[in-house]
Amino acid sequence: MMQNRAHWTNRLAFVLAASGSAIGLGNLWKFPYIAGTNGGGAFVLVYLACIAIIGFPVLIGELFVGQQSQKNVVQSFEVLHRHRTPWRIAGWMGLVSAFLILSFYSVVGGWILDFEVRALLNQFATRSGEEIKSYLDTLFASPFRVLFWHFAFMVLTTGIVANGVKKGIERWTKILMPILSLILLGLLIYSFFLSGFNQALGFLFSWDTSQLTVDGVLEAMGHAFFTLSLGMGAMLTYGSYLDKNESLPRTALTVAVMDTVIALVSGLVIFSIVFSHGVDPQAGPELMFKTLPVLFAQIPGGTFIAIAFFLLVAFAALTSAVSLLEVVVAYWEETHNKNRTYTAIICGMAIAILGVFSALSFNVLSNVKVGGLTIFDLLDTITSQALLPLGGTLIALFFGWVLGKRAIEMVMKTGSEKTFSAVILWCNRAIAPLAILGAIGYKLITS
Ligand code: TRP
Repeated sequence: MMQNRAHWTNRLAFVLAASGSAIGLGNLWKFPYIAGTNGGGAFVLVYLACIAIIGFPVLIGELFVGQQSQKNVVQSFEVLHRHRTPWRIAGWMGLVSAFLILSFYSVVGGWILDFEVRALLNQFATRSGEEIKSYLDTLFASPFRVLFWHFAFMVLTTGIVANGVKKGIERWTKILMPILSLILLGLLIYSFFLSGFNQALGFLFSWDTSQLTVDGVLEAMGHAFFTLSLGMGAMLTYGSYLDKNESLPRTALTVAVMDTVIALVSGLVIFSIVFSHGVDPQAGPELMFKTLPVLFAQIPGGTFIAIAFFLLVAFAALTSAVSLLEVVVAYWEETHNKNRTYTAIICGMAIAILGVFSALSFNVLSNVKVGGLTIFDLLDTITSQALLPLGGTLIALFFGWVLGKRAIEMVMKTGSEKTFSAVILWCNRAIAPLAILGAIGYKLITS
């Protein structure tokens, strides 16, 4: 077995890596567009509630399982329970989720790279708004170009993972995540002066519950898992590189709060542009790509901001993609005694090939639909709304019942933490599982 398992240099490195995993396209791209297609306010409220009562407690549970076992997604359950324990199923599901999620995530990562090149070629400041809004359609019209960037993104992800978590991830997150936050803050200040800012505020924060549907609730819940990288062992695996006696609650809180703030800011910026420039809030996956570039065309020095912005988004997407691939590679490396580079390349290639179907679902395969969904949407829906919540339920139940009281006492050590230990325990034991199974069950019955 592995003697020298990699470890984060210190606590800050861990916080950054975990936030690097959590903060990604889920915040900047996905959250605004699903808030848009679900009518705004009420969806956002449900999402925030899901983060607080499901996401945060399960995040603590998942980190703890990894931290105490010091193992990968599958073996964690064996070490903490018993050999061949049925809880390993959560681990297998995680491996499957990692494959599926990364395969379509990387396609969107590819779009970002394409836009970065456009920014470098100064194509935002010098073209008309209409033309800029059609950039994504132009990209979709070329299957070759979409595939090229998707593969490029996978090569970058694989390269980082092959180099090991520490050298690869730690060094860069430290510098780039803070810069991304600053740029986003700058954009927020700018959008404050746009005519659509107040409407954006109203859209995101006035809670019109009549807009809320069962699908919306399920989507909000699924997104709480997606955005916090929960339910498939990414946080578990990162937790396993943390020292056994490092304290978790504050770290988990930092990650959850930063992740949420970034999503909300991104939503505000994007919807300010939506309402100032007559973009359709229901535009779907294309929303971010049809709004932000318009802003870059207006702002003085927009080209430079665009260059920096897409670079940083690409980086945020990469640090998230890396955490997905890491789950699979850590498992393979440790259970089959294979070397990291080899494993990373094989898995990366397999995922890249799987992603071809998602990439082409915006052009050549756009007519291939299952239950009304394109391949891209189907993979996104299956993973976010079924695999992650169910995997999360298993991890929560494992933490809450198998590890139980003793575990929560180990996690919540200080006085103020102890106050909340029963809440966190029962969220894992009952509230999160019931909410998840309730939402999925209700959807199955009514559809
Ligand atoms: N959380 C990331 C985002 O918001 C995506 C991600 C990384 C992820 N690792 C994950 C999603 C594990 C689900 C599970 O972009």
